[in-house]
Amino acid sequence: MIKIRKITPNDYKQAGDMIKRTIRASFKSLYPEKLIQAFCDKHDIDKFRQVAKTVEFFVAEDQKTQKIVGIIGIKDDRLRRYFVDPNYQGKGVGRLLFDHLEVVAKKRGLQKITLEGSPLGQPIYKHFGFKIIKSITKERAGVKYTDAVMEKTLKS
Ligand SMILES: CC(C)(COP(=O)(O)OP(=O)(O)OC[C@H]1O[C@@H](n2cnc3c(N)ncnc32)[C@H](O)[C@@H]1OP(=O)(O)O)[C@@H](O)C(=O)NCCC(=O)NCCS
Repeated sequence: MIKIRKITPNDYKQAGDMIKRTIRASFKSLYPEKLIQAFCDKHDIDKFRQVAKTVEFFVAEDQKTQKIVGIIGIKDDRLRRYFVDPNYQGKGVGRLLFDHLEVVAKKRGLQKITLEGSPLGQPIYKHFGFKIIKSITKERAGVKYTDAVMEKTLKS
């Protein structure tokens, strides 16, 4: 059984470690090691604690093991961070997280959800009803990479 709930400070270490594990496993064929390391560094406990001050996170917890197996966040109308532990991917956890976020966004009266999605995330975001608005090229650790700004209009 998977439960979706708000993150608590006690979860920060576990959530950050899960994100790092997922980045390493999922992005290794897409990005050079330097960039992957830079993305992982953003999820060390102190940095993650800072991020959690402005981004509202929800986690997926495996009730049996009480381990955090997924995360999704929202800041204003922007989806921030969306990861499911590699051992749990493809089993519906990501769907539970996204549906939860959508309900939260609608309750707040948001008209749309926006995000910046990597080439890996774009197909699933399209599946969830997002459209690509434009491409943006960014740079981190001296490496350029391109994401897509995507948007989903929310119907009440
Ligand atoms: C993206 C991610 C969070 C999704 O979580 P998940 O638990 O694997 O997703 P689910 O198994 O719940 O699938 C959700 C839905 O998306 C669909 N889907 C999954 N991968 C897809 C893909 N590549 N293309 C299109 N649809 C896809 C599933 O069929 C499912 O559809 P349904 O709910 O309508 O039946 C997870 O795979 C992940 O962490 N990936 C690596 C990190 C990443 O790419 N994050 C996005 C940030 S840019």
